[in-house]
Amino acid sequence: MNHPEEPAEAEPLSDLKKGQNTSRGIYAIAGGVMLFAFGALVAGVIHSHGEQADTSKSAPADGKIAFTPPPESKIPDGPGGDSIRHGMAIFRNTGTEAAQYVGNGLTCSNCHLDAGRKPLSAPMWSAWVSYPQYRSKNKKMNSMEDRLNGCFSYSMNGQGSPSGGPPPKGDPIYTDLEAYFHWLATGAATGAKLEGAGFLKLKKTPLGYDRLRGQVVYQQHCAECHADDGQGRTDLNSRSIFPPLWGPHSYNWGAGMTQVNNAAGFIKVNMPLGAGNTLTDQQAWDVAAWIDSQERPKDPRQKGSVADNAKAFHNKEQSFYGKTVDGHLLGTGTPPAH
Ligand code: HEC
Ligand code: HEC
Repeated sequence: MNHPEEPAEAEPLSDLKKGQNTSRGIYAIAGGVMLFAFGALVAGVIHSHGEQADTSKSAPADGKIAFTPPPESKIPDGPGGDSIRHGMAIFRNTGTEAAQYVGNGLTCSNCHLDAGRKPLSAPMWSAWVSYPQYRSKNKKMNSMEDRLNGCFSYSMNGQGSPSGGPPPKGDPIYTDLEAYFHWLATGAATGAKLEGAGFLKLKKTPLGYDRLRGQVVYQQHCAECHADDGQGRTDLNSRSIFPPLWGPHSYNWGAGMTQVNNAAGFIKVNMPLGAGNTLTDQQAWDVAAWIDSQERPKDPRQKGSVADNAKAFHNKEQSFYGKTVDGHLLGTGTPPAH
């Protein structure tokens, strides 16, 4: 997209240091008493990274327009501001603020970092000005509400939630999320191509991706936070500190993140947390293949066999859905988390 490779030189040293500090921090935490402080540290890392990204976007690259969303302190008072604030709370704490409709251990901002502000983690300010939009995923013009319905169905695994699905049409959850996005996009023109929109489209590498090479990258750069088994880590109150990457508490087989190219673009810029753009492109592709070749909750669109569903909905080149890995047919799903 706008800065594909270049940050590999520009940012990494300071970022890497932060990453190392972060991992040292993890080992320093013995009993879990300091988990609260640690959460604040993680937030700080994300925040400072976001700021770096902001200052780097001075001149519009390839016709794209630089944009910075307003600071939280500018949210207006009164009932309008309350709706914006509630939308932000849903985005950050989806499992508590929209508990009826969340069937996993994720929040929106686990993938759209810094509460939907961070460039190249599909920030909500650029999303807002690009809807309604035609999507080949469901072959229709999608309103923002349709889009969010999909996020709850797939990324948040709505089928495993107490209600068994996403919020119904017209639910105030959608209105408050939209109020928040609309406010984040204050001053951006409708349809504008904004710098930092979406996720990085990572270029293919000559070697292609390989899940076993990815396993090595995973052990070295990811497992300290997301755990060897990819299930992430929770605090003493079972609140997620490091989100699960696969298994029953993660995104399901219908989610955009199950496409290796999407995961690779996300990982290259945003992971390891606080050390974005330190992996090579090859490492990002390989580790994306490792996490996306693990079992997770089933695709809620599946009616017939996994093979039929693979044909109907899954991109053969970019998804492991319907493939057999280590003797297991991927797509059969994990047992319900509740
Ligand atoms: C220092 C700890 C840390 C390291 C190391 C780390 N992550 Fe993460 N990761 C996080 C946190 C925290 C989040 C959620 C970010 C948020 O909520 O702001 C996250 C989010 C994610 C997500 C999106 C949410 C999900 O559960 O699917 C993916 C995918 C991911 N990380 C992959 C990786 C990969 C691959 C690596 C190794 C290259 C890695 N991470 C290294 C802490 C880490
Ligand atoms: C597991 C990671 C993950 C989680 C959790 C997640 N998303 Fe996403 N989201 C993605 C990916 C990947 C894309 C882009 C690929 C695609 O089209 O699916 C995306 C795209 C979007 C878009 C469109 C962005 C654009 O620029 O067009 C919106 C809006 C969005 N998500 C909102 C949300 C909301 C709201 C939540 C929480 C209810 C959420 N997402 C949870 C991964 C995630």
